[in-house]
Amino acid sequence: MKFASFSVALAVLPFLSASPTYPKSGHHAERNKYPGLDVLAKRAGLLYFGTAIDNVVLNNTAYVTIAHNRSEFGQVTPSNGLKWMYTEPSRNVFNYTMANEIIKPAIKAHQIRRCHTFVWHNQLPDWLTSKNYTKPELIGILENHIKHEARAYYDKCYAWDVVNEAFNDDGTLRDDLWLQTIGPEYIELAFRFARKYTSPWTRLYYNDYGIERVNNKSLALQKVVKDFVKRGVPIDGVGLQAHFTVGRAPSYNDTRSALNLFTKLGLETALTELDVRVDLPDTAAKQKTQADVYAASVKACVDEESCVGVTVWDFWDPVSWVPSTFPGYGNACLWDDALKRKPAYYAISDMLRDE
Ligand code: XIL
Repeated sequence: MKFASFSVALAVLPFLSASPTYPKSGHHAERNKYPGLDVLAKRAGLLYFGTAIDNVVLNNTAYVTIAHNRSEFGQVTPSNGLKWMYTEPSRNVFNYTMANEIIKPAIKAHQIRRCHTFVWHNQLPDWLTSKNYTKPELIGILENHIKHEARAYYDKCYAWDVVNEAFNDDGTLRDDLWLQTIGPEYIELAFRFARKYTSPWTRLYYNDYGIERVNNKSLALQKVVKDFVKRGVPIDGVGLQAHFTVGRAPSYNDTRSALNLFTKLGLETALTELDVRVDLPDTAAKQKTQADVYAASVKACVDEESCVGVTVWDFWDPVSWVPSTFPGYGNACLWDDALKRKPAYYAISDMLRDE
C-alpha cells in the first residue's frame, strides 16, 4: 500500500456512501468483490489502471462502454491516433481526428490520458522516410512536430511517451532515421522540445519493451537516463511496455528489479503496454499461467514506490495487436472473444484487493 492516506481517503469516500446494510445478493456480492480494476488499483495505491484503445473498434458499443467505464479504466491511451503518420500525414499539416475520437470521450469520462508517442522509428509518414533530410532540417522537423502535437494536447495528457523504442536488445541505439541523420542527441533534443511545448505538469517518459528485467538493454537505458538527470535533461519517467508471453514472462522479482533501476534515479515508472500472449491453441492451464503473470506484473508495480500505474495494450482479444504481429499467438488480453472477463481479470482484482 502506498500514498496511503490520500488514496485511502479517496477510495473510501464513495464506498462509505454506498455501504450496504442489507444482505448481499449474488449480484451485489459480485459487484462488491469486483468493483472494477481502476477502483481496486486506486485502493491499492496506484494512480490508475488503464487501457489502450484503438479506433477500429469504436463502432462496437459493448466494447466502448467498457473502455470508457471509469471503474475499470481510470486512464486511456490511443493505440495509434497520436503517431506521426496520422498526426502529420503531410509536412506541417496536422490532423487529430483519430486521436480525438479516443481522447475526447476519455476526458468526458474523467479518465486521465497517456499520450503516445512523439518519436519512434515506426508508423512514420512517407514524406519523412522517403527523402534524405540534412541534420538541421530533420531537427527542425522534429521540433515542429513536437510543438504542434504538444500544444494541441497542452493540458490533456497526464504523460507523453516522448521517445519510444530507441534501444536494441544489446544496449546499442537502434539504427533508425533519427540516429542516422541527427545522431544520439536526438533523444535529448526530443525531451528538451517536449518540455518546451507541453504543460509544465505533463510527465515526460521514455518508453520501451524488453526492459522488464535487469539486462543489457535496461542497463544501457539506465546509463543514459542517469546522465540526463545529472545534466538536467528534462525526463520524468520510464515506461516498461511489458509485452509478455506465457512461459517466458519476467517474474515479479525481475520486473521489480527493472523498475528499481529507475526508482533509484528518482524517476517515475509505469507499465505502459501490458499484455500476455498465449501460444495457440489456448488451454485452461495456459489461462491460469497467464493470470499469474498478469497478477505478478501488476503487483510489481503496486509494490514499487515509483510505479504510478498499469496500462494494458487493449483489453479485448479480437482487437489486440498480437495475432497480426506474432502469428500463432493470441488471447493476450483480459476480456475474451465473447467480451467476458478471463481468469487474468479476476487474478489481478484478487491480488489488488489483498494489497
Ligand atoms: C501497435 C498498435 O497496437 C497496432 O495497432 C499498430 O498496427 C502497430 O503498433 N509498441 C508500441 C505500440 O509502442 O505503439 C505498438 O502499438 C505496440 C508495440
